[in-house]
Amino acid sequence: MYRTHNNGDLRLNHVAQNVVLSGWVQKIRNKGFMIWVDLRDRYGVTQLMFDADRSTKQTMEAASKLGREFVIQVAGQVIERESKNPQLPTGDIEILVETLTILNSALTPPFTIEDQTDGGEDLRMKYRYLDIRRKPVRDNLVFRHKVSMTVRNYLSGQSFIEVETPYLIKSTPEGARDFVVPSRMNSGQFYALPQSPQTFKQLLMVGGMDKYFQIVKCFRDEDLRADRQPEFTQIDCEMAFVTQEDILQTFEGLTRHLLKEIRGLDVAEFPRMTYDEAMERYGNDKPDIRFGMEFATLNSRAQHRNFGVFDQAELIVGIAVPGGNAFSRKEIDQLIDWVKRPQVGAMGMVYCRCQEDGSFKSSVDKFFDQEDLSSWAELTQAKTGDLICVLSGQTDKVRAQLSALRMELAERLGLRHANEFAPLWVVDFPLLEWDEDSQRYHAMHHPFTAPKPGQLALLETDPGAVKANAYDLVLNGNEIGGGSIRIHDKGTQSKMFDYLGFTPEEAQAQFGFLMEAFQFGAPPHGGIAFGLDRLVAILGGQETIRDFIAFPKNNAGRDVMIDAPAPIDNDQLSELNLRLDLKP
Ligand code: AMO
Repeated sequence: MYRTHNNGDLRLNHVAQNVVLSGWVQKIRNKGFMIWVDLRDRYGVTQLMFDADRSTKQTMEAASKLGREFVIQVAGQVIERESKNPQLPTGDIEILVETLTILNSALTPPFTIEDQTDGGEDLRMKYRYLDIRRKPVRDNLVFRHKVSMTVRNYLSGQSFIEVETPYLIKSTPEGARDFVVPSRMNSGQFYALPQSPQTFKQLLMVGGMDKYFQIVKCFRDEDLRADRQPEFTQIDCEMAFVTQEDILQTFEGLTRHLLKEIRGLDVAEFPRMTYDEAMERYGNDKPDIRFGMEFATLNSRAQHRNFGVFDQAELIVGIAVPGGNAFSRKEIDQLIDWVKRPQVGAMGMVYCRCQEDGSFKSSVDKFFDQEDLSSWAELTQAKTGDLICVLSGQTDKVRAQLSALRMELAERLGLRHANEFAPLWVVDFPLLEWDEDSQRYHAMHHPFTAPKPGQLALLETDPGAVKANAYDLVLNGNEIGGGSIRIHDKGTQSKMFDYLGFTPEEAQAQFGFLMEAFQFGAPPHGGIAFGLDRLVAILGGQETIRDFIAFPKNNAGRDVMIDAPAPIDNDQLSELNLRLDLKP
């Protein structure tokens, strides 16, 4: 037997018991006649004591040779500690060791296995198995497990059935590039890894499964960020015979249950906002509503005052930064530089101080009098002591820029409280989105999304105005889920493919199976998918999903531990009938 207890178990009531423990050596203090060792496993740390007076010579000798991260087994007696450690659940006791067995030695780890480590990100990723021994990383993985189990139990309790769908499939268009896998048995042909199980879950509805879910890996070859990984996990769900309202209720129920179970929070009914309203009020379809700084359109009070920049702008929009009048000139200049960075792309920023004496001081005093500025304050709801920041230009661009500034300022002012949760539904997304590169409309969600009832005809006349039965669940400024009611008849689906630029042959080749299935009695259906990694990170009070994934990829899409991706040898290539023709 390797152990009678784990390293988080023992308390004062175990004193005098003989126990066997196993684990890793966390820390050693060697005073010659006394040696203390902190022994660690997943459950905690227990202090071991080797005493020259009471332990055998052989045990003392073995203990003096221990190094950090050695794997050991000890047998001994639980004794009460002389100096207790109230920081540690096991801090009242220690083990007087009788026998020590070294199960495995260890090289000196390349970084310290402590809560605060000296290892940088790259090094920790290369030795991720050592990183996982650190409590914060381990806790995150345990937390993820708890969220997954809570989701599974809840959905199963609501009659959802978890069904596995294949990973080797044909491309599903969700807007990103596919990862492809060459087929050895079908020379010159490729599988694609699913960007999501979208078409399969719809087929499960045709198959009569009624309520499906799956905690499932998805693969997307897209540019990576803190909230994006090339392989990530969805809680993928679909229901038959439902309206949008049924779906919102069901998954609001799941989210509310999670907030209660995981964070102990009771959250009121989630607010709902249309896409248009979210864009107007926050410049963003995933607004963080934990704080104000709402957008105010200033066109009527900012144009026709001979300020050319504003006169030429489609939209002039401002926000009131709470307490922002305290910013120094230098700090404001830095903000202006910040919005002018290529990543944000503003041409400049106009600002107006709401001074303590009630007067206003702006960067454009030459063009605007106190009355104008006072109306800006009224529209942005700026109070004495605030700073009004104003951007102008083409509507979509300026909204994105001001939204970026709003989030940056909220971050700097500490308004994004990690332990506050503000979920909301964003509904009525446009069906289509104009793509500058290809100069045509693309499906904003995916091509299986149904337009709002009665709006199909608008496709011919004003495609950009067609709204979809599509919705996102937003939590603290992050899109944690998205879904839609689907098209479930062949006619509408083929019209949609046609509209999106597929020839009938292409639509048939790619999605013939789905349209065929629709002819065999497809029920009305709809669904949603949550990003599990994002959900877990946000519930954990963080936003970097890497920290909640056991073996994540870096920003270049590489796994630096196993060194993937990697070339394959010529034999493997020729077996697949592939030839590399790389340009130098
Ligand atoms: P969508 O593309 O909106 O919808 O994805 C659903 C959710 O998955 C998460 N997500 C990601 N998380 C981490 N890394 C990524 N690269 C990544 N991409 C997406 C987001 C997002 O809200 N089939 C549809 C769902 C449906 O219609 O039912 C779909 O995949 O949190």
